[in-house]
Amino acid sequence: MSRRITAAEITSRKGAAFPVVTAYDAPFARCAQAAGIDVILVGDSLGMVVLGYESTTAVELADMVRHGAAAARGAQSAHVIVDLPFATYEASDELAIASSGELVKRGGASSVKLEGGTSAASRIRAIVGAGIPVCAHLGVLPQTASLGSGFRLRRERDRLLRDADAVAEAGAFAVVLEMVEDGIAAEITRRIAIPTIGIGSGPHCDGQVLVLHDVLGLYPDSPPFAKQYATLGAAATEALSAYAADVRSRAFPAARQTAAHEGNGYRP
Ligand code: KIV
Repeated sequence: MSRRITAAEITSRKGAAFPVVTAYDAPFARCAQAAGIDVILVGDSLGMVVLGYESTTAVELADMVRHGAAAARGAQSAHVIVDLPFATYEASDELAIASSGELVKRGGASSVKLEGGTSAASRIRAIVGAGIPVCAHLGVLPQTASLGSGFRLRRERDRLLRDADAVAEAGAFAVVLEMVEDGIAAEITRRIAIPTIGIGSGPHCDGQVLVLHDVLGLYPDSPPFAKQYATLGAAATEALSAYAADVRSRAFPAARQTAAHEGNGYRP
């Protein structure tokens, strides 16, 4: 087994363009790693794209543990960032450290990600102080967006710059910028020493991250800024339709798909 990419190595990519993608299970994490993507985010977008919830707020720490561990088993040398889900870190530094510890111990996390700027700086400092690397997340904050903060493009320059300074000073190794106006995202990228990882925030961020199911065409509600590179949802429906038709017409199973068939390997 090769060793995993570390948070410090990601920080040292400042200025380089590097890809990040979400993954939530072993097979797709393996695909990402085989594609040369060595930073995988087990995002709490899991709630929508895999678990069928309307938003991320219903996602539990146990969900992130299970899916983080699966992704880490699938991609054994990638850096696996696992999201701290809603209400597992906001209340206190102690809670934030305990939840992060769980993600590292049982959830395959190489690092954790949490949402928020100046308000989250104390949590970031505490988790980093406990030895666990933290990726910050500014701009649209999906965990609270559906509770009122909203999904609109973020243009509050002074506040965003303050937040970026705060998370960098608190010790984050990188920061996701979600739906930040591209000029401001560029300014933040120039201003702070840690890499910015953009999503819907323009071409001047250091890294870019997309949600796997948007990339592969597996999710019907992709945001307009996502780029789709395949149509796996349509391919899956087509394959399953062909299977269903074969069963209905008794074309499946043929002799070779029958366990008792001679020469299929199941009989001596
Ligand atoms: O949960 C997630 O997938 C994320 C990305 C949108 C950055 O946080």
